[in-house]
Amino acid sequence: MDIDVFTLFPEWFAWFREQRHVRNALAEGARLRFLDFREHTPLSGGQVDDTPFGGGAGMVLRVDVMDSALRAHYGLDPVELPRRRRVIALTPAGRPLDEEYVRELAAEPALTLLCGRYEGFDERIVEHFCSDTLSIGRYVLAGGELAAMVVCDAVLRKLPGALGDASSAVEESFSAALEGRPEYPHYTRPAEYRGWSVPEVLLSGHHERIREWREQRSRERGE
Ligand code: 6GU
Repeated sequence: MDIDVFTLFPEWFAWFREQRHVRNALAEGARLRFLDFREHTPLSGGQVDDTPFGGGAGMVLRVDVMDSALRAHYGLDPVELPRRRRVIALTPAGRPLDEEYVRELAAEPALTLLCGRYEGFDERIVEHFCSDTLSIGRYVLAGGELAAMVVCDAVLRKLPGALGDASSAVEESFSAALEGRPEYPHYTRPAEYRGWSVPEVLLSGHHERIREWREQRSRERGE
């Protein structure tokens, strides 16, 4: 997996890339790069945005700026890019991220994530340079950076070796093993705390009953 994140704030990701499952994925051969699209702006003073045609509040990311940044990095006309890799504009109006979408992205060899700021992207960026638009929920963030971290987190932990225990992703929430349902509840020691006890069946050592109990709890949560 090769992920490029285009952002005005590459330093935001310094903390993210140090997280254990991210480091594990990188050690296993994944690549993660953070690129400042201000570096390649053809405009003076590092300008990247402009006021919206037709009026209204806020600023819009310019298509010529995104063209220059993608062209400089990939060495080709960015209209060709979506044929070579998934290019994803992060925007609150995008396709909602869910487990199915994460799996789809984790199966790709390469992703490019474009972080918007301000009011968003000039629509021609989305139309001509992107294969996807993606939203992490029905609320508005100040920019796409946190959404990019959410996407990278969810995708990288799907890769072999990212999680310490490979089986921990098999029966997690929304997995095929649980037929797409949320996960069952977990408990650990102490078996009793302030009078709150762990369900008896989990202490029974009776694997078949434990399996049934977990399936039942997962079904209840999925209702
Ligand atoms: Cl991807 N970007 C922004 N700016 N806000 C969001 C979002 C993305 N997803 C939900 N809200």
